[in-house]
Amino acid sequence: MSSLPPVFPPGFLWGAATSAYQVEGSPLADGAGPSIWHRFAHTPGRVTNGDTGDVACDHWRRWPEDVAWMKRMGLSAYRLSVSWSRILPSGTGGVNRAGLDGYARLIDGLLAAGIAPMVTLYHWDLPAALDDRGGWLNRDSASWFADYASVLFEALGDRVPLWGTINEPWVVVDGGYLHGALAPGHRSAFEAPRAAHHVLMAHGAAVRAFRASRAGAAGVGKIGIVVNLEPKEAATDRPEDIAATARAQAQMNHHYLDAVFLGRYPEELAGIYGEGWPQFDPADFALIGEPMDWVGVNYYSRGLTEDAPGLWPTQARTVKNPGAEYTDIDWEVYPEGLTRVLRWVRERYTSLPLYVTENGCALPEPTILPPETRRLDDPRRVAYLRAHVAAVRDAIAAGVDVRGYFAWSLLDNLEWGHGFTKRFGLLHVDHTTQVRTPKASASFVQALAVSNGAALDDERAGQQELPEVG
Ligand code: BGC
Repeated sequence: MSSLPPVFPPGFLWGAATSAYQVEGSPLADGAGPSIWHRFAHTPGRVTNGDTGDVACDHWRRWPEDVAWMKRMGLSAYRLSVSWSRILPSGTGGVNRAGLDGYARLIDGLLAAGIAPMVTLYHWDLPAALDDRGGWLNRDSASWFADYASVLFEALGDRVPLWGTINEPWVVVDGGYLHGALAPGHRSAFEAPRAAHHVLMAHGAAVRAFRASRAGAAGVGKIGIVVNLEPKEAATDRPEDIAATARAQAQMNHHYLDAVFLGRYPEELAGIYGEGWPQFDPADFALIGEPMDWVGVNYYSRGLTEDAPGLWPTQARTVKNPGAEYTDIDWEVYPEGLTRVLRWVRERYTSLPLYVTENGCALPEPTILPPETRRLDDPRRVAYLRAHVAAVRDAIAAGVDVRGYFAWSLLDNLEWGHGFTKRFGLLHVDHTTQVRTPKASASFVQALAVSNGAALDDERAGQQELPEVG
């Protein structure tokens, strides 16, 4: 491994991330078709308190204000996702100009503010019309996705520097097809590996489509995939726990990147899925492994793992670490895991540039702030971010080529099945008035952004007010 100096390289991106369904609101406005998340959230019992993305943070309409906040925070990048059914209301076929124009305006607004857009093509909101055709269980989904992606590459390829294909394939499959906690809410060991394979083929097909597009062929913009990695570590040194940890690691962390970079699936998966594990066509791995430009890593926590006989399908479970701090969503705060996963991607898979595309924590915070509140103090989030950005610095010092860090999330948004009950934002959002109030963590990120990370060692970073900008 080459050894880089232990500082953030020039041009390192300091950003925040969101996703379409979680923030936009107006899901059916301007000609959009419904997505699976629209349907799921409107099914009683699926989302806490019956919350939906009907209004969310109203970002579809209030994006100019949100871009102004990002400018005040000195961000150099914003990671957003495009809702497929705003562009192709039926998933395939006719393009909805109004949807495309909405994103073009946002992207132009970001560029005018000096903020680089990183655009995710799929952050879980499949067009409902495609779910009616089998969704990710249909092998044609790879070409549906490539066609949709091509529309965006042609329309916006001249100004988007970074494209991400799929956000967190593991969650798409685990939540959507294995355990059913997320849309479309299926629970099947037969569907999950097939859906995973098609999601990966869709990723490869989109990369191929990008290379064939005008921007891609001209070398404008770079494309990658975003995975969530949660290092699995054995809770004890009992052989059963070590074996369970290997299964959990294969099922969550190796399934997707092994396929992309090593051209195969981990052998543990056949045992985990049993009869549900299909025979795959080896030729598909050429598409899945289509060379790309970067890898995004979303990191929140680790999984301390123990053997759990009978627990479907991995026979493994995450246990609590009694000495550790936990966030409001019950995830262990474990910053060194971020250094570990970044090094691990570099060592096991690739020397491509990496981005930390999501990192952050949910904390219990009031839904409504006292009138005239100018700033919400969130010292635990500042400490979380400080420790995790330091973990990124450690990875860079160890020779990993990390090019950017995106906090999750810009806004308190719809946390999927938890509705609005879990707050991850740098900006507090009152969902009744849509008033945004900066948290101290927004100031902390501002200090990092303007100093290219030097503020990490400044105890006072985060105490300053966000500057006013023109
Ligand atoms: C997802 C986000 C989500 C966050 C916190 C990631 O799995 O990409 O959409 O809100 O984690 O749960």
